Amino acid sequence: MYALRAATTVEENTKEKIKEAMDELWLSFTELNSFRERDIISVIVSSTEDIKAAYPASFIRLKGYENVALLDVTQLNIANQIPLCIRLLIYTTKPGRNLYLRKATKLRPEWGWPVEKAIEEKRSPKPRGALSKIKPYVPGKPIDEVKREYSLEDVIKLASNENPFGPSKKALETMAKKLQSVSLYPDGANYDFKSKLASFYGLDFSQFIVGNGSDELIKLISETYLDEEDNIVIADITFSEYEFGARLMGAGVKKVPLKSFTHDLDGFLREIDERTKLCYICNPNNPTGTIVTHQELEGFLDRLPTNVLVVLDEAYAEYAENPKYPDFKKLIDSYPLIVLRTFSKIYGLAGLRVGVGIAGENIISSIEKTREPFNVNLLAQAAAISSLEDIGHRDFCFRENASMKREFYNKCKAEGIEYVESEASFVLIRVERAKDIVQEMLKKGVIVRSAASFGLDDYIRVSLGTKQQMEKFWNLFTEIRDGGISK
Ligand SMILES: Cc1ncc(COP(=O)(O)O)c(C=O)c1O
Repeated sequence: MYALRAATTVEENTKEKIKEAMDELWLSFTELNSFRERDIISVIVSSTEDIKAAYPASFIRLKGYENVALLDVTQLNIANQIPLCIRLLIYTTKPGRNLYLRKATKLRPEWGWPVEKAIEEKRSPKPRGALSKIKPYVPGKPIDEVKREYSLEDVIKLASNENPFGPSKKALETMAKKLQSVSLYPDGANYDFKSKLASFYGLDFSQFIVGNGSDELIKLISETYLDEEDNIVIADITFSEYEFGARLMGAGVKKVPLKSFTHDLDGFLREIDERTKLCYICNPNNPTGTIVTHQELEGFLDRLPTNVLVVLDEAYAEYAENPKYPDFKKLIDSYPLIVLRTFSKIYGLAGLRVGVGIAGENIISSIEKTREPFNVNLLAQAAAISSLEDIGHRDFCFRENASMKREFYNKCKAEGIEYVESEASFVLIRVERAKDIVQEMLKKGVIVRSAASFGLDDYIRVSLGTKQQMEKFWNLFTEIRDGGISK
């Protein structure tokens, strides 16, 4: 048997901060030493007296260490000790390294590993250098996780711009019929699906590529066009996958600040250089909901150097009400342009993962080389076809979204809340203590998205839901904003 040490400190005495520190410490410690549950015999967790909001050891249990004996104890109160400190004595079956993190490294500087580096060095083979610049995507918390974590029964999610009305009934019926065929591979050429897209948009079959969500298409576009010395140009506040795709390829990312929450296309032109291969315009932009108009886009495309492909991400296009919204069909034959559409938003199929790229045939055939043959599954292809046919459902979702948006604006005005006018299925609002409010709402069963990860600390992005969901949102939001934040 071996005895190892680990320690960390907590930013403040709250359940969330204790969990955050323990998760980081435990994951780093087990990863650094390649320990599994069977390698750990027991853990004694000793905390300073100022840690009261939760048992730190309970977060090890939550990680699934069912058979490990755990004990929480309070440390002797000695003068000059590091406050908010948690120390672990871990009995193991194998030797390993001790690990002191955060301010606890002061206690044993020789054990203060630069964890990420140590973990990376331990791994073999070494991952590509480009990956070190990739920050992990932090998705909105799933409803079930929030229910579990806060012992809630009724949780609503207004954080990922999903369709609150669900998919088309016709799509559900089609999938039910198709279920028995899932022993077969899907059609790798997506013949029926692409034929439907061609007739739906009035374009040629060869102008479409389909993806496992438009996320996958962004990755395929990056793989098709980007070498390490290349760069992409994007807005500074926009959907994160564009940067991810570029970083994955080791390419550079140039960011252009938004102007009045909208893409600054003149700024894009200034940033584009001879190594720029792609520029992304998210229209409507996530998280602001703003658009560039047809005229602005065309003017931009006219001035664009020929080495650049424009990726126009129209994930929320079907919700746009502004008559000046671009008509991509008038542009794709004349310019280096690929348009992305998704079935995750108005079509309500986010869980199935279906995205579409629309461009000239030469662009499509280049990107096709990077596509896995069976990237869109059999149920997803069938459901997407039926969704396109169900115009009634789509129109209903459009109308409901438009009317919820109007009500949302009215409520914002009544409450004196600044908002950004949106052409999408979400609205960005400006609120003091935005992060705290989001966290507090989460605990009470309403999941919304703090815009801090986009660099907008004082903003919350709220997906528009059903009437009942929006009522629940407003009731809770105003209650918390007006003083209900518990510490
Ligand atoms: C602007 C934008 N593009 C693409 C996507 C991803 O869509 P998909 O589910 O098709 O991968 C999202 C999802 O939130 C988005 O907001």
